[in-house]
Amino acid sequence: METQKLTADKVKDKVIAIRVDFNVPLKNGKVSENTRIVESIPTLKFLLDSGAKRIHILSHLGRPKGINDPQLSLALVQPELEKQLGETVEFRGDFTPGKNKIQLHENVRFYDGEKKNDPEFIQELLKLEAEVFINDGFAVSHRGHASVIGLASYLPAYPGFLLQKEIDHLSPFLSNKKIAGLTVVVGGAKIETKVKVLEHFAKTADNILIGGALANTFLAAQGFNVGGSFYEDDQLDVARRILESAEKNNTGIHLPVDVSCGEAMDSEETVILPLEDIEGDMKIFDIGPNTIKSYQEVLNHSQTIIWNGPLGCFEYKPFENGTKHVLKTIAALKSCQTILGGGDTLDALKKFGVNKSAFTHVSTGGGAMLEFLEGKELPGIEVLKS
Ligand code: 3PG
Repeated sequence: METQKLTADKVKDKVIAIRVDFNVPLKNGKVSENTRIVESIPTLKFLLDSGAKRIHILSHLGRPKGINDPQLSLALVQPELEKQLGETVEFRGDFTPGKNKIQLHENVRFYDGEKKNDPEFIQELLKLEAEVFINDGFAVSHRGHASVIGLASYLPAYPGFLLQKEIDHLSPFLSNKKIAGLTVVVGGAKIETKVKVLEHFAKTADNILIGGALANTFLAAQGFNVGGSFYEDDQLDVARRILESAEKNNTGIHLPVDVSCGEAMDSEETVILPLEDIEGDMKIFDIGPNTIKSYQEVLNHSQTIIWNGPLGCFEYKPFENGTKHVLKTIAALKSCQTILGGGDTLDALKKFGVNKSAFTHVSTGGGAMLEFLEGKELPGIEVLKS
């Protein structure tokens, strides 16, 4: 089953409820990274240009656990939305219609019913009197929440252009067949959220480059001493299973051969060591220069690259090199299809001044991108199929 296309005739003179993902980083009460807002603009402009009667924008921000937290109010996002859209946006503290053509409503997660997809909360949302529902929040489409799936049971529902773009770019990687020239770069802290995607790409990629604390679990699974570094003791068998599957399927799994260590993430003093030299309670916080070189070599020979998750604690200068150099290498590749995703990855782009236009596709999804790529059906997309 396919989702129906969003076209002007479906929204002309209609009241629209649109779910976006404005779960953006804030600093001192202001939006510090605006990709998710910028990416939502084409659909919002299309709705305006197509003569929608009113547009009600719904989103979550952070994880407020059903309570009203002023630091997570969508009112903080309103100025950036107005700036990007070039239109006045009315902020509404509840889910009743206001006067303006475009209205941004309060954080849906201030209400318990949102996460439970509670019918009573859906009735609250229906007070907006929307006639059409649009999901343009790809990054939250893995959540079966009221504002993501609930309204779609009552209203004609369509994907927004951002959601459609994500589906179009990520779908080709769902196949279980080997994809020649595909390199997958996976970083971040925990294996748990990445197991399925690693299992999938252990079969279909040519190469997988691993960094971040995730790499420590793989190294420990291979019997290396990772000192006092964070790793997941209870996931060693999972890591071994992925390594075995990769070997069976002729997929190269690349792990750090040298690392950058310190006493803590914010240590001033760091030491670069070959992996074999780690001792005591040394902690790994980044991949080392030889690893960077060997990863660059693999990337330079790839035809397609997918990246999710940083390769070290790039927020701290002494441990930024792995993420920075690998990012810049990928950005400089010419005839290579490059796909990036994950909230931290967006932060890294901003920090290292790398333009998003250097990549084929920068996904707005973190968890949603991973779940989509592992082949899971995302509730926020499934509900649009008819
Ligand atoms: C994200 O940032 O990945 C999405 O906004 C989903 O947020 P959540 O993990 O709190 O559901």
